[in-house]
Amino acid sequence: MKYFIDPDIRKAETLPGSFYQSEEVFNQIKEKIFAKSWQWVGDSHSLLPLTDYAHPINLLDHYLDEPVLLTRDTNQHINAQSNICTHRANILIHQPGKMKKLTCMYHGRRFAMDGKMEYMPEFKEVENFPRACDHLHQFAVKNWFEHLFVGLDPTFDLGNTLDVMSRKVGFLNLDRFKRDAATSKDYLVNCHWALYCDNYLEGFHIPFVHKDLNAILDYESYTTELYDHMNLQIGYATGADQPFDLPKDHEDYGKQIAAYYFWLFPNMMFNFYPWGLSVNVVKPISPNKTRVSFITYLPGDQEMSTSAQVLMDKVEREDEFVVEGVHRGLKSRFYQTGRFSPTKEKGVHHFQSLLCKFLED
Ligand code: FES
Ligand SMILES: [Fe+2]
Repeated sequence: MKYFIDPDIRKAETLPGSFYQSEEVFNQIKEKIFAKSWQWVGDSHSLLPLTDYAHPINLLDHYLDEPVLLTRDTNQHINAQSNICTHRANILIHQPGKMKKLTCMYHGRRFAMDGKMEYMPEFKEVENFPRACDHLHQFAVKNWFEHLFVGLDPTFDLGNTLDVMSRKVGFLNLDRFKRDAATSKDYLVNCHWALYCDNYLEGFHIPFVHKDLNAILDYESYTTELYDHMNLQIGYATGADQPFDLPKDHEDYGKQIAAYYFWLFPNMMFNFYPWGLSVNVVKPISPNKTRVSFITYLPGDQEMSTSAQVLMDKVEREDEFVVEGVHRGLKSRFYQTGRFSPTKEKGVHHFQSLLCKFLED
């Protein structure tokens, strides 16, 4: 199926219902978008707390389902590689822990921490061994203030995105941020993952859907900035809440900024508030079901107030209510496509354009 979003937002139509319902499109998105881009997997403090350490993860359960092994070697070098033994495809490492070598428990094949095949019993007579593919397959990995991103086969670089993020929020001493389990949680939403992102990508609905949030955000000032595979929404404080204390040399110095909402294509959100960071990862399960993981990071000396927790949870429930409604609405025989507001829906237009571009390639 071919989808098209006109680059001119004034002329463009939104994606039709079939996009969100089709199993075929859902599977195409998996290979053409998720396997070709980047996924945030967590922070290296939590995942790889020590040197000579390996941590297996499954990249996007129920979707990509790709076994990935993260390692930190003696020299602090971090690798992301396939967690599949190159002999007969056994899962190589099952539990995170300290180790100096990666040894398969099935027939004893041994790899260095960087995935190089070092030893295999009973293979002396084998010709042309080891081949390049007998070492562990290596994935692209990017480390931004301890946040790790893995790309299975990415077609674009993450560098520009991370540079913009550093420019905007680098002043926050992100190295001091720690994952906070108590305020992190998952939500299961009955909608297509892209609908959840569509909704996130506009502040248009805030006065209609989020009355409490609207009271502390200045709707008129709300802005969206577009970058290559990322966009940034900026929420301004009305005065009811404490804005960021921006340093003098910051490009936004003098503005009363209450939140920086970064969205990274295709499914990641980094929401920075004066109290800390909430990372949201939108995980496709089926065309009708999505898991959204909220992971909180707090600076060493801060905590997330109860009122901030209550507000975040309330806003999430309000968003779920609308996206689940839209998900049902798109199935109607009588809905075709919609149009975009050029002033308020630039982010959604950006996202839908990227979806189409990747599906085309
Ligand atoms: S599958 Fe790993 S050594 Fe045989
Ligand atoms: Fe919302």
